[in-house]
Amino acid sequence: MKNIHNTQISNVLVIGSGGAGLRAAIEAKMLGMEVTVLGKRQKTDVHTVLAAGGINAAFGNVDEEDSWEQHFADTYIEGYGLSEPEVVEIMAKESPNRVTEIDEWGANFAKLKNGKMDQRFFGAHTYRRTCYSGDYTGRSILFALINKAKSLDIPILDSQYVSDLLVEDNVCFGAMAFDIQSGERTVFFADSVILATGGHTRLWRKSSSRRNENTGDGFYLGLKAGCKLTDMEMVQFHPTGMVIPEEMAGTLVTEAVRGEGGKLLNNQGIRFMENYDSQRMELSTRDRVAMANYTEIVEGRGSPNGGVYLDISHKGKDFIIEKIPRMYRQFLDTLMIDISKTPMEVSPTAHYSMGGLLVNPQDHWTGVEGLFAAGEVTGGLHGANRLGGNSLAEILIFGKRAGEFASKRSQDMTEHIRSKAVINDAHDNIDSSIKNGSEVARPLQRDLRNIMWEYGGVVKNESKLQTGLSKIKDLKESSKNLDVRPDSEGYQDLMLAFDLEASIVSSEATLLSALSRKESRGAHQRDDFKEISEKENVNIRIELEKNNELKLSKHKIPKLSKELQNLINETKNIDDFEGMLLE
Ligand code: FUM
Repeated sequence: MKNIHNTQISNVLVIGSGGAGLRAAIEAKMLGMEVTVLGKRQKTDVHTVLAAGGINAAFGNVDEEDSWEQHFADTYIEGYGLSEPEVVEIMAKESPNRVTEIDEWGANFAKLKNGKMDQRFFGAHTYRRTCYSGDYTGRSILFALINKAKSLDIPILDSQYVSDLLVEDNVCFGAMAFDIQSGERTVFFADSVILATGGHTRLWRKSSSRRNENTGDGFYLGLKAGCKLTDMEMVQFHPTGMVIPEEMAGTLVTEAVRGEGGKLLNNQGIRFMENYDSQRMELSTRDRVAMANYTEIVEGRGSPNGGVYLDISHKGKDFIIEKIPRMYRQFLDTLMIDISKTPMEVSPTAHYSMGGLLVNPQDHWTGVEGLFAAGEVTGGLHGANRLGGNSLAEILIFGKRAGEFASKRSQDMTEHIRSKAVINDAHDNIDSSIKNGSEVARPLQRDLRNIMWEYGGVVKNESKLQTGLSKIKDLKESSKNLDVRPDSEGYQDLMLAFDLEASIVSSEATLLSALSRKESRGAHQRDDFKEISEKENVNIRIELEKNNELKLSKHKIPKLSKELQNLINETKNIDDFEGMLLE
């Protein structure tokens, strides 16, 4: 089998078949490129299907005063100044076009009587800005993209696991992948490659991601290729994940429940958000609501199963089935609980990687020639706290942009690199991963998730983070002795081995970054540094050195242009931004 592979050639290769990847592929194809999309999962069951409550665009359909400027201000301020302002500006300006387009392609969002898209409240948005299809918005978007891709004859290959990007002299010329069912290897040559592989929040014990998704594989592929990561410590804990049953713990309970009037209550029946953000209550920022839920639980005011209560029963069954049908079914299917009668038990769950690959704002180029990235695998947009509904906007806007600029590079190319040595190294990497040892990947993954939850969870400190890092080091040692048996276990076993390696490195990067940020800001909460520190007005970057060690560096946050600063001053903001982060 050694060094035998199929070969495929495309102008643009997209790795990841979720929303960002498909939107990138569609753009490239519409620009005349030959495009191939690779996905680990079945294309109709990628993580985007889980995105629930909506997608933001400042149409002002419901609240006329809304504007892109206000969307910019809300996003930037609630990211505590760590976002890349240019990326936020692009998002706020371009989301109306992308949302209109996907609606026309078949996403079929909820409409008002006048035919315009309805918009609901989501946390920390000044106005109703979130367009939606019930509580299955990601699913609507994904299926619209799949149909569009089909109409353009874009091949989407399922069950392809990318083990290495092919890079020589800082130029990426494709990827090595193996088929998760058959083990068959393919070298995908391409002029441009786009990483759209998602984040790493499956690495926490309670997570809104399912098995084998968001394992940090894209971060590791990028690091090995020479990319940098930014702000890996900024991991968003969604305030409301399911608490029971155990096997479903962490599963998302959409913010739309609160957007549509759901109330958070403690075991004394008190609507406790009054004590944390009396103005915005349940629609405060995610970091604040997550901390509020966490505090109620650890201070003993939680529910019997270790959560708090989320109650929407006062809205009645018809309303609930119209606005949040999936939640209605989720609680009936798994717990036999009718949420039109009984409150839900919820607690924080790891939900979104706000950090990720460092990219240029405009074209989402990674700094490695020919390599672009889009979606959750990138950092820059969300800073220290993401507003709900901005991620679906992000995947469409920056997926499109990555597709456009990847195509441009292909059109401008005058010569192609092909390196046999690099391809042979990629084969060797697969060959050496198939070995008989004493450790099995799944239990080690479970150990890692427990470590991340306990030592890198909602509230951290120096001692926890040091302990977490030392436990990960031990786990890394154990993982060298992995048992990988495609003959008896199938090539899933090989995929798990690659995922585990990527997960370990992504976890290390996250904890190292968290250790280095000596403050509490947004989603990054430390009980040994409880305040925001001006000294930490930095983005933390990480790269992989030749000796496989992770190297950190701190970079002053980008300055807001005068224009954007003025714009913020002129908008309506609940949080006092004055002097918070600016020099
Ligand atoms: O709660 C939600 O529906 C999640 C939305 C988001 O993360 O953007």
